[in-house]
Amino acid sequence: METKIFGCRRESLALAREYILKDDVVAFHTETVYGLGANAFSDEAVRKVFALKGRPADNPLIAHVHRDYDISRLIDREPPYAAALRRAFLPGPLTMVYPSAKRVSRYVSCGLDTLAIRVPSSPVAQAFLWEVDLPIAAPSANLSKHVSPVTAQHVYDDFHGKIPLILDGGPCAGGIESTVLDCTGEVPQILRAGLVTREMIAEIAGDCGIYAAKAGERPKSPGMAYKHYSPRCRTAYFQAEERAAAIGCYQDERAAGGEPIFLCESEICAALAPYRVLDLGETPEEMARRLYALLRNAERQATLLIAIEPKQKDGVMAGVLNRLHRAFGVIT
Ligand code: TXA
Ligand code: MG
Repeated sequence: METKIFGCRRESLALAREYILKDDVVAFHTETVYGLGANAFSDEAVRKVFALKGRPADNPLIAHVHRDYDISRLIDREPPYAAALRRAFLPGPLTMVYPSAKRVSRYVSCGLDTLAIRVPSSPVAQAFLWEVDLPIAAPSANLSKHVSPVTAQHVYDDFHGKIPLILDGGPCAGGIESTVLDCTGEVPQILRAGLVTREMIAEIAGDCGIYAAKAGERPKSPGMAYKHYSPRCRTAYFQAEERAAAIGCYQDERAAGGEPIFLCESEICAALAPYRVLDLGETPEEMARRLYALLRNAERQATLLIAIEPKQKDGVMAGVLNRLHRAFGVIT
């Protein structure tokens, strides 16, 4: 199968609709990362997504809808705080988990009695969702465990020959996946940190928890139980105060004939000038935007990628650190 990469024009949208109605899978741009979309009402289409990615059967998908889609068709009920959050942040990088009305394919939620809904703000995603006027079940468009895609080329690298079409919207401005927020309880609870932060949610909802699975419990957001976002080279991880050890690690790799590369924030990069470095940037937003492209870039060049943890920890950095820890296999 030839994989076409088309911009968002009338003909490519019509083609995307044709594929979706035939239960084929279409990749599309969003403001966070590219998605691998299928008709959420179709068992066959949703199962294709799991098969293509090699995704574990217990990791549910997000249903994406356009901004005017009536989500009361898909969910059982909505707490008042969730309606307020929806008005404040959607369309945008916030996924909301509701009690499910069980209308979409049971494979979307993997047997959970909840449904995750997202209204992306990307004009390409909106145009695509309008064109099909269906909920589109879509995980990030990467092979399971690989780094999420932030360009059409990244999607192509993982799926060429396996999907018919990628709707190209250029590089994703957000760069890390949406915040996943459980809206089934009294108080909203963050299941996956992202660009909509706990502070932003608490300001609207009055309060916002952060979910941490208890020992032995099935996690509420099964995806967070897996190693994820991993570059295909060896990795090492150091705290900011362990810079000397990180340099030692770099030198050992060089001495052994390898190609080590550092991944760190701009300020530390400047101090590591004689070594090969990939610059994450200065602000949390910049680090979010650059992270996945740098990880994909690194895996092509480095035998060992050595990260030094950025100093900031709050706000958007919570999401960036979560992805960094998972990519480098750091359990927190
Ligand atoms: O930004 C994003 O969210 C991107 C773009 C394509 O929209 N999508 C994305 O999907 O990151 P995926 O499948 O890679 O991650 C979805 C996350 C997983 O951690 C999954 O476990 C969680 O959302 N999730 C999905 N449905 C859920 C549900 N009903 N309850 C709890 N967690 C859920
Ligand atoms: Mg993913």
